[in-house]
Amino acid sequence: MAGVIFDLDGVLVDSAEFHYRAWQALADRIGVPFDRQANEALRGVDRMNSLLLLLGPHAVRFSEAEKEAFCAEKNAQYVLLIADITPAGLLPGAGELLTALRAAGIPAAVASSSKNARPVVASLGIESLLTAIVDGSEVKRAKPDPELFLLAAARLGQAPAQCVVVEDAQAGVEAGLAGGMRVIGIGDPARVGAAQRVVHGTDEISVAMIRGLLEDGVTV
Ligand code: BG6
Ligand code: MG
Repeated sequence: MAGVIFDLDGVLVDSAEFHYRAWQALADRIGVPFDRQANEALRGVDRMNSLLLLLGPHAVRFSEAEKEAFCAEKNAQYVLLIADITPAGLLPGAGELLTALRAAGIPAAVASSSKNARPVVASLGIESLLTAIVDGSEVKRAKPDPELFLLAAARLGQAPAQCVVVEDAQAGVEAGLAGGMRVIGIGDPARVGAAQRVVHGTDEISVAMIRGLLEDGVTV
């Protein structure tokens, strides 16, 4: 028995870039310093907590109502940016891996903190390759809490120990480990180095690597 739970943004699609651009537009408008490097800390973090990280010490200048309005403004910009996503937006290797998992009889899920996950999955055209989708509107506690991944494992009908999580965010790696799952981290080891296996991109992940991680922790 096995299952694979994919984060969405930065793992299956480069929507992390769209999140960045939408936050940058907001930061520029309200005059708060922000750049790509600062944006790295926002990977995998839910909308309001991302805003609080972006504002940093400036957060005290704004009321709760203003912060809600900033989140709505950022999301409106993000929704505009993702409107153009097509199956061509899949990151290298993502479609091939989902197809190989389906052929191997290993069910796959998307578990994303994003409340926009379902329309993005639909635009990517991968719904038929997924057994379950869990998005940020379905859980009370955001990553690094494991709630999202535990719900995904339950929807796959798999025990957490039989699931591999694929993540590009530190909060997501922590969530997978906290849920008792094996984790493949994508990207900078400074960010995802706590995972059992770190790769540069989704195209380096194979069915054999997933089976090896689940069988005895040995990777290939
Ligand atoms: C995560 C992204 O997948 O979703 C974060 O990595 C984002 O950058 C979070 O803040 C929430 O997304 P949304 O679409 O609900 O604002
Ligand atoms: Mg991500």
